[in-house]
Amino acid sequence: MDDRALYDITYGLYIITAICDDYMNGQIANTVFQVTSDPKTITVCINKQNLTHEMIEKSKRFGVCILTQDAPMDMIGLFGFKSGREINKFEGVAYITAQEGTPVITDYCKGYIECDLKQSVDVGTHTMFIGDVVDAQVFKKDKPLTYAYYHQVKKGTAPKTAPTYRQESLMDSSENEVPKYRCPICGYVYDPEVGDENAGVISETQFADLPEDWTCPLCRAPKSSFTNE
Ligand SMILES: Cc1cc2nc3c(=O)[nH]c(=O)nc-3n(C[C@H](O)[C@H](O)[C@H](O)COP(=O)(O)O)c2cc1C
Repeated sequence: MDDRALYDITYGLYIITAICDDYMNGQIANTVFQVTSDPKTITVCINKQNLTHEMIEKSKRFGVCILTQDAPMDMIGLFGFKSGREINKFEGVAYITAQEGTPVITDYCKGYIECDLKQSVDVGTHTMFIGDVVDAQVFKKDKPLTYAYYHQVKKGTAPKTAPTYRQESLMDSSENEVPKYRCPICGYVYDPEVGDENAGVISETQFADLPEDWTCPLCRAPKSSFTNE
């Protein structure tokens, strides 16, 4: 079996939000799709270890915030590599409240879909939450962020809790032969051709020339911890 066939499945990137006992949280997910149109239903696949999983189970509601292509890596790092159990991810983030009370992010989001939980399907490590769409809005016309763009252009990675984790690590090993500097925490690979726009690092900057206080754009691990492969 060639697992690389799975790489050709296309996805978007979203922040799944929930509120429980007045605490707001959200996490990155790529596993979102519309299931039916009448009634309108949406599914998302969430790891059982995640706080968002616990909050959707309890509140029986979730929001899908559709990220724009220019969403910064530190935003994806905050919502995709950190847990709401350790940090309040909504601190300093602009949001509004959808019709049924779910907080939905307005920064770097095209719009949102709010769902009432209809059904949960146990799929081992993850649960597929299927929701009835109860509210939806479009904020802006910007391009949505696709998983392919995140991986190929932004050079982003996904943690072990993401359903696509294995596929990604296999993809990395077959891509190119040049030495890579990889973050030991989140797997981010620094690409000199891309640089790190948010940190003011222009393209064609070699890893060795990065400032010593440069940190991983996704998880903030120090430059000194990166390993050369
Ligand atoms: C690109 C990317 C895609 C991800 N996709 C999913 C996903 O589809 N489902 C999932 O459960 N976690 C996914 N994750 C991982 C969660 O976002 C991550 O485990 C998060 O820290 C959970 O936060 P929480 O504990 O606050 O809920 C993804 C992360 C990234 C960076």
